[in-house]
Amino acid sequence: MMRIDILTVVPGLLEGPFAHSILKRAIQNKLVEVVVHNIRDWSVNKHKTVDDYAYGGGAGMVMMIEPIVACIEELQSQRSYDEIIYMSPDGELFDQSLANQLSMKGNLMILCGHYKGVDERIRRHFITREISIGNYVLSGGELAAAVVSDAIIRLLPGVLNDETSALSDSFQDNLLAPPVYTRPADFRGHKVPDILLSGHEAEIDKWRHEQSLARTKERRPDLLKND
Ligand code: ADE
Repeated sequence: MMRIDILTVVPGLLEGPFAHSILKRAIQNKLVEVVVHNIRDWSVNKHKTVDDYAYGGGAGMVMMIEPIVACIEELQSQRSYDEIIYMSPDGELFDQSLANQLSMKGNLMILCGHYKGVDERIRRHFITREISIGNYVLSGGELAAAVVSDAIIRLLPGVLNDETSALSDSFQDNLLAPPVYTRPADFRGHKVPDILLSGHEAEIDKWRHEQSLARTKERRPDLLKND
């Protein structure tokens, strides 16, 4: 079973995402284990400090190396990790291909930064890869860690009811998903395309593929260029 350990100073931010819907069911069905660790529990002093002033001055606190390394090493003494990931806008841009790659790993650790970030020595000596979820700055790595975990977990075998459903996602074949409709067939004169009501499975598949291509050409031509 895949295991994801998330290290944070704000564990409350990660309570919601795993407590509902698909991720909740994946955890209940033992397809993945997600363990959130409060870095403060590994703080070495009596004030439970996890951050300190930056050497050289300047505004903003820096996450200290000792509590984080104590937490990492305790976990490493229990099992080996395929990746120790640091969430950061400096990282490699997250995409479906990276989600696919990570979904094939066994144990993952994800460190969430806060304040001005973590002591650089953690990044140099303990982190195996840095991931960004986009070119914008969040107030911490937690929401990004939840995004990455979600994208990975839904790919694990047995997580989605319909085994083919992840395969028809946008991006899985570098194409956007086709439009979908449900009842009613006519809403205030806005009609569902006739083909979808026709019952001709092969024709419908063809139509969906054409729609995917057209939508990708129009909205994301960049996806059609590479590979
Ligand atoms: N932490 C802050 N901003 C981030 C981003 N864009 N991606 C990942 N982690 C982050």
